[in-house]
Amino acid sequence: MSNKPLNGIKIIDFTHVQAGPACTQMLAWFGADVIKVERPGAGDVTRSQLRDIPNVDALYFTMLNSNKRSITLDTKKPEGKAVLEKLIRESDVLVENFGPGALDRMGFTWERIQELNPKMVVASVKGFSEGHHYEDLKVYENVAQCAGGAASTTGWWKGENSVPTISAAALGDSNTGMHLAIGILTAIIGRQQTGKGQKVACSMQDAVLNLCRVKMRDQQRLDSVGYLEEYPQYPHEMEAFKDKVVPRGGNAGGGGQPGWILKCKGWQTDPNAYIYFTVQGHAWDPICDALGKPEWKTDPDYMTPKARQPHIDQIFATIEDFIKDKTKFEAVDIFRKHDIPCAPVLSMKELLHDESLRKSGSIVEVPHKERGSYWTIGSPIKFSDLKPEVTASPLLGEHTEQVLAELGYTKAQIDNLKESKAV
Ligand code: COA
Repeated sequence: MSNKPLNGIKIIDFTHVQAGPACTQMLAWFGADVIKVERPGAGDVTRSQLRDIPNVDALYFTMLNSNKRSITLDTKKPEGKAVLEKLIRESDVLVENFGPGALDRMGFTWERIQELNPKMVVASVKGFSEGHHYEDLKVYENVAQCAGGAASTTGWWKGENSVPTISAAALGDSNTGMHLAIGILTAIIGRQQTGKGQKVACSMQDAVLNLCRVKMRDQQRLDSVGYLEEYPQYPHEMEAFKDKVVPRGGNAGGGGQPGWILKCKGWQTDPNAYIYFTVQGHAWDPICDALGKPEWKTDPDYMTPKARQPHIDQIFATIEDFIKDKTKFEAVDIFRKHDIPCAPVLSMKELLHDESLRKSGSIVEVPHKERGSYWTIGSPIKFSDLKPEVTASPLLGEHTEQVLAELGYTKAQIDNLKESKAV
């Protein structure tokens, strides 16, 4: 424990569902003492959502709340408010992702928190940023993906499936939590210089938009040029650009390197028998070698990225023909020898059982008091001097008495709090 960089940072974790909990979980992995404050009797709604085992905390909760302590506290009751005030006085950070205005309605405005502890960093996730014309909206993941530009630019650009499309990756939730974690650490470093805490806010819309930066790039290029050469619509379906909004790009590379999902052996029955193949500009010669097409290296129709673009579908068809009798793993093994950027499309099942991920701690098995053990995703950030160890999520209120005792409450006072149902 002692060598973890965030040891000594005490965090009041007033978060729920995914965006906030993902943030505080990461800080807990790196050593912060994260005290999750939950409503007595109910707790975070994800404890009971999508349960796989009756009456046991759902994986939704356990996979987002590891390494934390849990106390129950009704912060709408005066006795509960008094406990929260004490906690605020003794903590470094309060993180919350309630609906807009909930913390203020509870009586814990920024001004009040500053009075209680001027060093406090107060970090919030909301759907939209302060002052935004939608600032009053409650927001979940997919709402944010739509509001942040991800949905309008994801999916197919033609045919009956041409509708804005949601990504399975939690761009609105966990992504916002990761942004917020950076904000919190920045505010903690700022506090070392000024001695003062500050408010840190990250809206889900902004966090999604930040990941859609390249699509904003494309909008401006489209406005000035009128078409986007690297999109699959160019040059055969130029009408896709006529609306002058960035069109959905299907499975295109999205950057300077064209790419596509290609079928491998077994695709007819296996929904994930595909690879992603990137035609990296300077890897063109190795691609020609790998495909047994050396003549393409010097053919003016194929030699440069610009020359290749009108033939890109045919190039992908040629690669697909080359790998049609190879599994996705065999195909990647061939291309990796030529230094070509590619990967198999991996299913969740394959990832869960991936030996490399288990070895690196990216997927870990965690013992849990009531579930037995469960698999979860460990720290995606690796350090040379820190190996984050994932411990089980807390049971509801598991640490109430412990935390109250640390705050100086006597056994009799704790019993009174229990009687008043404030904890
Ligand atoms: N004791 C007493 N009251 C508590 C409490 C506690 N320990 N913890 C929460 N509450 C109360 C809040 O004060 C609030 O009361 P109020 O509305 O009467 O003022 C109430 O619980 C509901 O909180 P809210 O956060 O609005 O819950 P919700 O279930 O209606 O909405 C969200 C859920 C996620 C839509 C909403 O919290 C939200 O928009 N959050 C910001 C964006 C976000 O993070 N979304 C993604 C989640 S992954």
